[in-house]
Amino acid sequence: MTTLKSYVKENKERFINELIELLKIPSISADPAYKEDIINTAEAVNSALKKAGCNTVEICETPGNPIIYGEHIIDNNLPTILVYGHYDVQPADPIELWDSPPFEPVIKKTEKHPEGAIFARGACDDKGQMYMHIKAFEYMINNDVLPCNVKFMIEGEEEIGSSSLEWFVNRNQKKLSNDVILISDTGMISNQQPSITTGLRGLSYVEVEVTGPNRDVHSGLYGGAVPNPINILTKMIASLHDENNHITIPGFYDKVIEASDEERAEMDKAPFSLKAYKKALDIDEVYGEKGYTTNERNSIRPTVDVNGIWGGYIGEGAKTVIASKAFAKISMRLVPDQDPDEITAIFIKHFKSIAPRSVKVKVTPHHGGHPYVTPIDNIGYQAANKAYTESFGVAAIPQRSGGSIPIVALFEKELKSKTILMGFGLDSDAIHSPNEHFGIFNFLKGIETIPLFYKYYVELFKF
Ligand code: BES
Ligand code: MN
Ligand code: MN
Repeated sequence: MTTLKSYVKENKERFINELIELLKIPSISADPAYKEDIINTAEAVNSALKKAGCNTVEICETPGNPIIYGEHIIDNNLPTILVYGHYDVQPADPIELWDSPPFEPVIKKTEKHPEGAIFARGACDDKGQMYMHIKAFEYMINNDVLPCNVKFMIEGEEEIGSSSLEWFVNRNQKKLSNDVILISDTGMISNQQPSITTGLRGLSYVEVEVTGPNRDVHSGLYGGAVPNPINILTKMIASLHDENNHITIPGFYDKVIEASDEERAEMDKAPFSLKAYKKALDIDEVYGEKGYTTNERNSIRPTVDVNGIWGGYIGEGAKTVIASKAFAKISMRLVPDQDPDEITAIFIKHFKSIAPRSVKVKVTPHHGGHPYVTPIDNIGYQAANKAYTESFGVAAIPQRSGGSIPIVALFEKELKSKTILMGFGLDSDAIHSPNEHFGIFNFLKGIETIPLFYKYYVELFKF
C-alpha cells in the first residue's frame, strides 16, 4: 500500500496542475457577467469529484449559482463527514495592482513560501483549500483507506452571502445529515505552527446614502449655506467611535460576551510578533480599541468599518461643486452573542438619529451572518489536533478568527452539527487582495493532514 506521504509526493505535479486549471476560470460571483464561468467551474468541480471516485455527484440547481453535491456512503453504521467549500471567488480588481494576471496562475517563491506559492485569485480562498479535500478523498479511495462516509457540498455564492446555500440547506436537511462538518476556508498561524479556528465573527453590512440639495450645486454660490452631504456623512461616520475607539452606537455592545481573563491569557500565549505584523503592513503603529491587544481586536471584539466611500467630483483637476449625495458601505464584524439583524436595526436607528435635519438618510442592509464559536472538548477538535500533530510534528493551537463564514452558524442551527475549521492559509496570502496566493507546502500539507482527520475522527467516534 502506498503511504499517504508517498502518494502526495508522487502525484504532486498533477495535483498542482489540476488546481491551476481550476484557477484559470474566473468564477466571480459578485458580477453577473461571469455567470458562464461560474457554470464552467461548477462543472469542473463536479467532474473532479467524479474522477476522484465519488459514487454520486450532482450539480444542484438553486435560485442562484449551482451547488455541487457528492456523496460516498460506504456503511450506514459508520460516521459521516460533510465537507463544505466554495468555488466562487472575489472580484480581482484593482487589476493593475497584480504582478501577474489573476486568472493566469504562476508559481513564485516568497519569504513565507520558500517552496513556492501559486498566485491567482481564489488560490487560497477557496479553490486551493477546497481542492485539497478532493485530492485527500482521491487518496483514500485509491488506497482503500476511506474509514467512513463522506458528503461534499461545494457552493458558488460564499463571497456574496450564501443565500442559495441557505435555501438548499433548508430543503435538504436529511440528505445533508452528518456527524461533523469539515471546512478548509480559514488560516493558520504559520507553516511551523498550525492552528484550528475555533471562532468566526458575524457580519452586518449596510450601504448608506446621505442627500443634501436636490442637485449638485456651485460650491461658491451655495457653499456655506447648504448641507454638504459629504461633509455631513464623514462627520457622522467619525462619530461612530469615541476617543478610545469604542463604538458609540447605543446598545451595540449589549450582547457581547466578554472573554474571561483566563481565555484572554490563553489567547495571549499564541506566538505573535507585533513588530512583524507592523512591518508586513508598513504601518508605524497599530490602531484600535483601547484595552485590547491586536489579536483581541481582530477576533473577539466587534468592529465598525467603512469599506468604501464616494460622492462628488473625483475626476482630473478641480471642479467646484457640492454634491447632492454622498455614499458609504459599512461593515460591522460581530462577536457572540450579537445578532446581525438586531445590530443592523440599531445601526439604522442610530445613524438616522445623528443626521442633521438638513439631510435625508437612507440605509440599505446587505447580507449578514451570525458569529460562531466552537468548544474544543469534542472529538472533532481532538481528531483535528491529532491530525495536525502527526503531520506537522507539533500540536495545533485553538484560535478565533476575525473573518466570517456566515453559513457555519446556519449549519449548526439547521443540521445540528459542529464545524471543524481546518484552515491552511496564511494571513499574508492576500485573500481578497491583489496577488492572492497559496503555498505549495500548504496545499500539499493540507492533502496530507485531511485523511488523518478522517482516521482519528472514526477512531474517537463513540459507536
Ligand atoms: N474564507 C473567507 C473567510 C475567512 C478567511 C475566515 C480567513 C477566516 C480566515 C470567506 O470567503 C470570506 O471572505 N468571507 C467574507 C464574508 C462573506 C459574507 C462575504 C468575509 O469574511 O468578509
Ligand atoms: Mn472563503
Ligand atoms: Mn472570501
